[in-house]
Amino acid sequence: MEELRQKYIAAIAAAADEGALESLRVQAVGKKGEVSLKMRELGKMSPEERQVAGPALNALKEEINSALAAKKAALADVALEERLRAEWLDVTLPARTRRVGSIHPVSQVTEEVTAIFADMGFGVAEGPQVEDDWHNFDALNIPGHHPARAEMDTFYMARAEGDNRPPHVLRTHTSPVQIRSMMKHGAPLRIICPGRVYRCDYDQTHTPMFHQVEGLAIGRDISMANLKWVLEEFFSAFFGTHVETRFRASHFPFTEPSAEVDIRCSWEGGTVKVGEGDDWLEVLGSGMVHPKVLTAGNIDPLAWQGFAFGIGIDRLAMLKYGIPDLRAFFDSDLRWLRHYGFASLDVPSIHAGISA
Ligand code: DAH
Repeated sequence: MEELRQKYIAAIAAAADEGALESLRVQAVGKKGEVSLKMRELGKMSPEERQVAGPALNALKEEINSALAAKKAALADVALEERLRAEWLDVTLPARTRRVGSIHPVSQVTEEVTAIFADMGFGVAEGPQVEDDWHNFDALNIPGHHPARAEMDTFYMARAEGDNRPPHVLRTHTSPVQIRSMMKHGAPLRIICPGRVYRCDYDQTHTPMFHQVEGLAIGRDISMANLKWVLEEFFSAFFGTHVETRFRASHFPFTEPSAEVDIRCSWEGGTVKVGEGDDWLEVLGSGMVHPKVLTAGNIDPLAWQGFAFGIGIDRLAMLKYGIPDLRAFFDSDLRWLRHYGFASLDVPSIHAGISA
């Protein structure tokens, strides 16, 4: 019996895994195991022998069972240790950085402009970028022979052969949205129309696609004085400093009288500063809406009048944020976008000029 004991206790101690343990259990204390067979022999013994051998065999069986259980637990501990070592991870490592996009300066400035004009009671109107030539030209008092059509370097949409409808164009300015808004809403009216416009032109200050914002205010008693106030109010809010304007007589087919508007600025070391100095920078075209344009928009020019203006959004962005080359706006260069872009939390407000 002592032999059996030593054999199994040693084998259990040496078992490499649970499978080996299980076969040792079967060999020793399973139904046909060595210890079990010995127990069956008890019946053939004399009562005296049985009294000695019985408890001894029971004790052996118990000892083997508890050695098996202890070894099983020890193997599980080793396995757990091994997992803990293998699956270890350092939760104090810095997290992987997430790529964050940025708001394009054109989007940012469009929002700023919209916020400032909204504060003065202007709604936002939009129109199609592929426009018919009536809205883009004729309705704005630019007839077919007018030199303005050639000057604007218009992109014409291709027509299928035999399609003789009047041409569609990529709108050359946001002014056609004036016409659409007048026809849709009638008078009185106070809107701005920001959006993309297209002209066949490309150099440091021109790209074939750029952005304008149109302004239109129609009422019973609107004058150039209102226009000047609105524009000075806008530029002062936008640049975060009082900005003087200078009106120069000009000509646009859709306004009469027409004015080009300059803002006061200084040039120092090649950089422009708005609101101070002795120089003037041209920033927009404007005027009183031409009676023919009101008529085209189904508004009676004897009862209503209004002012209109058109500003380049990209140019506003270049001026305010010191961006030198317009072409880079549309190159999708990530380095440029990260440098000049805005975080999504730079929410434009009517005080954006001060915080920027
Ligand atoms: N549409 C003109 C352009 O693209 C800008 C402009 C000038 C708009 C005078 C106006 C305006 O509304 O009154 O050059």
